[in-house]
Amino acid sequence: MSAHKWSMKESLKMDDEQFILWQALLEDRTGMQISAQRKSFLETSLAIRMREVGLQDYDAYYEKLMSGLTGEVEWATLVDRLTVQETSFFRHTSSFELVHDYCDARLKEGASSLDVWCVGCSTGEEPYSLGMMLNGLIEQHQGKYWGITATDISLPALSKARQGIYSKRKLDLMSDEYKSRYFATLPGSSLSESRKVQVNRELKDRICFAQVNVLELESAPMAEMDVIFCQNLLIYFRRWRKRDIVTHLAERLAPGGLMVLGIGEVLDWSHPDMERVPYDNTLAFVRRNG
Ligand SMILES: C[S@@+](CC[C@H](N)C(=O)[O-])C[C@H]1O[C@@H](n2cnc3c(N)ncnc32)[C@H](O)[C@@H]1O
Repeated sequence: MSAHKWSMKESLKMDDEQFILWQALLEDRTGMQISAQRKSFLETSLAIRMREVGLQDYDAYYEKLMSGLTGEVEWATLVDRLTVQETSFFRHTSSFELVHDYCDARLKEGASSLDVWCVGCSTGEEPYSLGMMLNGLIEQHQGKYWGITATDISLPALSKARQGIYSKRKLDLMSDEYKSRYFATLPGSSLSESRKVQVNRELKDRICFAQVNVLELESAPMAEMDVIFCQNLLIYFRRWRKRDIVTHLAERLAPGGLMVLGIGEVLDWSHPDMERVPYDNTLAFVRRNG
């Protein structure tokens, strides 16, 4: 074996200087912190990608990422490999119950529409869950409208979300009513393919998926949202950054709007226009009217 060849098991060692450089790049561009404990995860993920693009050292790969348009395209792939995209339908039930009760109350008070922003939507399970829930609610109130904007930094995750194809197992805990109304089993040529389902048009067309990096919220066009739902994204960020992001999100709410975060994700945040919502097992704030 030549000196440059290495196997996946013993991925190329990254020296301290290189590690600091990669940590800084990732934190600067995504907010994500790679702790020393996760260095081997970084080494392995980079090594796999470097092998795919035919590069054998971290510095050469870094250079590639910095090189104009090709660098940007490569960056999109790498970010997808390094971000945690774990998600599921109706993840964290109490947050969904809160959104349900809040939206129901708003509709009863006479709101004619509900605009929801799902931040860090990953492969789509979360915004589709919100959509099914809102659709059920809106049907009880004639002539009203709902819309969801779902955003994420990862283009591959967004592309999967737009397709809305999932393994049937992901629907195991969902009600039969939702399953039969919003999903169609895909015909497949093999047993494994036929275990896939796809979200139907009725639901898909109501959700707009777009790339938004939460470190660049100043340029995001969302405003006057009734609900902002952001779970399991801020956990990867430094405390000061979490506070900044949550402040930006709060400013995109309509008066009376609701912001739901992952429980325990932000501990020391407050805002003069925002009030904590006393709802069990949730972390949520409502924007004061006026
Ligand atoms: C663990 S998933 C959470 C998915 C979903 N919200 C949930 O709770 O099930 C975190 C998502 O945040 C996204 N993400 C990470 N950094 C981001 C950033 N700077 N801007 C926007 N999205 C980001 C990742 O791509 C990933 O899809």
